[in-house]
Amino acid sequence: MRHFLSVTDLSSDEFRAIIKRGSEFRKQFEAGETEALFPRKTLAMIFEKSSTRTRVSFEAGMTQLGGHALYLSPSDTQLGRGEPMEDTARVLSQMVDAVMIRTFSHDSIKNFANASSIPVINGLTDLFHPCQLLADMQTYFDYRGDIQGKTVAWIGDGNNVCNSFINTAKLLDFQLRIASPTGYLPEPGVLKKAGDNVALVSSPDEAVDAADLVVTDVWSSMGQESENNKRTVAFADYCVNKERMALAKKDALFMHCLPAHRGEEVDADVLEGKQSVVWDEAGNRLHAQKALLEFLLNQPKA
Ligand code: CP
Ligand code: NVA
Repeated sequence: MRHFLSVTDLSSDEFRAIIKRGSEFRKQFEAGETEALFPRKTLAMIFEKSSTRTRVSFEAGMTQLGGHALYLSPSDTQLGRGEPMEDTARVLSQMVDAVMIRTFSHDSIKNFANASSIPVINGLTDLFHPCQLLADMQTYFDYRGDIQGKTVAWIGDGNNVCNSFINTAKLLDFQLRIASPTGYLPEPGVLKKAGDNVALVSSPDEAVDAADLVVTDVWSSMGQESENNKRTVAFADYCVNKERMALAKKDALFMHCLPAHRGEEVDADVLEGKQSVVWDEAGNRLHAQKALLEFLLNQPKA
């Protein structure tokens, strides 16, 4: 049974095929055509953290594919009263066709997947956000073509999205330069596996220099709200502003997974500027994930 817990669950060819299919889905959608490829299929979505894009894109995506999505929160399922993830996995495997989970610990989604006989999708954990990378790469390929050999600058927290960028740098063979303050570097084990595709650099300006794509994310992720004040001090010099963006290539793109905090990790004139593709990036969550669902739902049942 194939799951999608990390970008590394796909081969490079599979990843490229999924985002290519995502672009086709986007064109169909814009032409007012949607194909009901999965009538009566159900996706269960377990959210232990908030979401706008992930929830709506998976739910609307399933509707467009002719199926149905269920929103499950801990407060109104037995998960919130302590029923183990593994038991929930075995029960849902009898009733639905795939499960998407947004949770804290990456181990808990791995345990769920181990007990599941249907595909499990990571809708964000503290460690990874692989669905975001499908949409980001679909967006880059649509605007600029293949990302192989290009340079990407990550500015800010070495968080879940950053870790998934590291995995993708290796998979799609681009150069990723990461500028994060001391104490906020990405996961060492993830970094090590990416080898020469990833470099930690000492300043945001050095990361952005002649880059093809500049990416940032919030300074405090979900679950880190109590560290807000400390983080605001540590990240004070990590804002992607106009001056910094001007150090990248003239045709460089700017991405942010959203939600964004204007005046913190990115200035409003960059977020709303000509190089920013954040709205298409968000929109592509829908299309890339429909392609992912097609890939996972078409595999033979375990
Ligand atoms: N980018 C992203 O995953 O957004 P949501 O938290 O709104 O799902
Ligand atoms: N790094 C952010 C991403 C939100 C989509 C978080 O985990 O809160």
